[in-house]
Amino acid sequence: MAQEYKLILKHADEPGYTPDIECYLRHGGYDSLRKALTVPVVELSDGKKKSAQEQIREDVMKSGLRGRGGAGFSCGLKWSFVDRRSGKPIYLICNADESEPGTFKDRQIIHKDPHQLIEGMIISCFANDVKLAYIYIRGEMPKGAKILNQALKEARAKNLLGKNILGTGYDLEIHVHRGAGAYICGEETGLIESLEGKRPYPRIKPPYFPAVLGLYMCPTIVNNVETLCNVKHIVGMGGAEFAKLGTPNNTGTRIVSLSGQVKRPGYYEIEVGKATLGQLIHDPEFGGGLLDGRKLKAVIPGGSSSKVLKAGEKFKLKRKVDGKDVEERPIFLIFLMISIRFSKRAP
Ligand SMILES: Cc1cc2nc3c(=O)[nH]c(=O)nc-3n(C[C@H](O)[C@H](O)[C@H](O)COP(=O)(O)O)c2cc1C
Repeated sequence: MAQEYKLILKHADEPGYTPDIECYLRHGGYDSLRKALTVPVVELSDGKKKSAQEQIREDVMKSGLRGRGGAGFSCGLKWSFVDRRSGKPIYLICNADESEPGTFKDRQIIHKDPHQLIEGMIISCFANDVKLAYIYIRGEMPKGAKILNQALKEARAKNLLGKNILGTGYDLEIHVHRGAGAYICGEETGLIESLEGKRPYPRIKPPYFPAVLGLYMCPTIVNNVETLCNVKHIVGMGGAEFAKLGTPNNTGTRIVSLSGQVKRPGYYEIEVGKATLGQLIHDPEFGGGLLDGRKLKAVIPGGSSSKVLKAGEKFKLKRKVDGKDVEERPIFLIFLMISIRFSKRAP
């Protein structure tokens, strides 16, 4: 039977859990950051040295983490594209625009456990030699921006952020930037334009791949809120352990936003690939079935840009055999998407 698996939301909904730093520290908060900052340099057999940063990046690659912003691109691979030889500063931007209709997972993390995101960001920045990072948050989320600013203030007061973090010599500043609220600002190059104070017209790729020519034409990493939270857990448990969660090609957990005509709308964290769409709609620990008198018309599985799955439609799964696409049954749809929605009120 499919069940929730709480990794990122482990504490967020516990009674008495609050978004302040003291509560986060009581629950083991910032232990992964301490671990990351003290990873010893490894001497290799050829006499070369592997820095803490390189080891963390390797572990993120090993974890198989895919970005949670929609495209599902490998996080480790994205980090490996960063131009580290340009001599320019490297920036990191947390994409907290969450503009996809029906998606509200990032907002839950920000409101209930902001320090988890900040810890994930500091580790990611350290691993990528970033000294200045931004959280680009949707304009319609003023409460989230306020909570994040407060959390950053608390982190600075504990020397987890700012100059000479925890006496390691590493400096980092993170600023919150509020967007004006436009769907396209969620797209990474549109977001970068907006952060530079311009209209958010997406940039042409190539040449404007953020890893090479991003913010202020400098190498830039753009990652989603949930992706960055995962980095904290990868450092905490190790990439190999993290990779045991989910499926071999798509590891970890996913937070599913479930809205529409179900008895229990909300957000649910599941191991990737371990619950079907039907289970998410009907199982008592998830959607709990349709509201009385409602009939399922369609499901929108991944926001407005995804295909609308009509009720009763048959789905065929494709599989690669010897490099060729082969269609196969069963038609059981494995759930790997970020949000699911339901038809308008229908008799
Ligand atoms: C039209 C459009 C809207 C997008 N909106 C968001 C968004 O609201 N939040 C987000 O994290 N990514 C969004 N993305 C994906 C980002 O461009 C980018 O791939 C993502 O932030 C990278 O983070 P990740 O690798 O951690 O997934 C959007 C992409 C497109 C094309």
